[in-house]
Amino acid sequence: ARVVVLASGTGSLLRSLLAAAVGDYPAQIVAVGVDRDCAATGHAEAAGVPSFKVALGAYPDRAAWDAALTESVAAHEPDLVVSAGFMKILGPEFMARFGGRIVNTHPALLPSFPGAHAVRDALAYGVKVTGSTVHLVDEGVDTGPVLAQEAVVIEDDDDEATLHERIKTVERRLLVEVLAAVATRGVVSDGRKAVIPK
Ligand code: GRF
Repeated sequence: ARVVVLASGTGSLLRSLLAAAVGDYPAQIVAVGVDRDCAATGHAEAAGVPSFKVALGAYPDRAAWDAALTESVAAHEPDLVVSAGFMKILGPEFMARFGGRIVNTHPALLPSFPGAHAVRDALAYGVKVTGSTVHLVDEGVDTGPVLAQEAVVIEDDDDEATLHERIKTVERRLLVEVLAAVATRGVVSDGRKAVIPK
């Protein structure tokens, strides 16, 4: 399957996907899209994968940005889009074009702690277990059907950085596994539930 990865952060999830996407791994990364200058571009270049930037600030409004991002991603004819730390909500035009084929990772056990500060929120709440969720993206924020989850225990001396790094260690493995499964066996989703056929 042809995969376009969207990233905004340090790109450590992207780096894991690039490292996995060699040989007969079923999900080949054909391009990387970013919304700002970030390390993800460097990881793409290092792997010989083309990258493109669609920065919100370069467009008159969000609809124009949504159209530009949709066009930039569509140019690579992806079968799947992976949001790996892409810190923007995907717009209606993008969802119309790629909905049902967009996978996201979230550093909490959804529906707990949605949004941009999941790790900080879990720590602040005082839960003993959090984790990683891989899900299909729908029009909401972190609300799409769940594909895979794995728990991560919070240690008493954890801070946001140590906990997030431990969650990312799980995410990197989970995302690579889920992407391979979805790429080879697809996803059957009826609204709320999504199942990757065995
Ligand atoms: C990951 O924890 C992801 O779940 C969240 O943003 C983080 C991205 O990390 N959405 P990185 O930029 O790939 O290191």
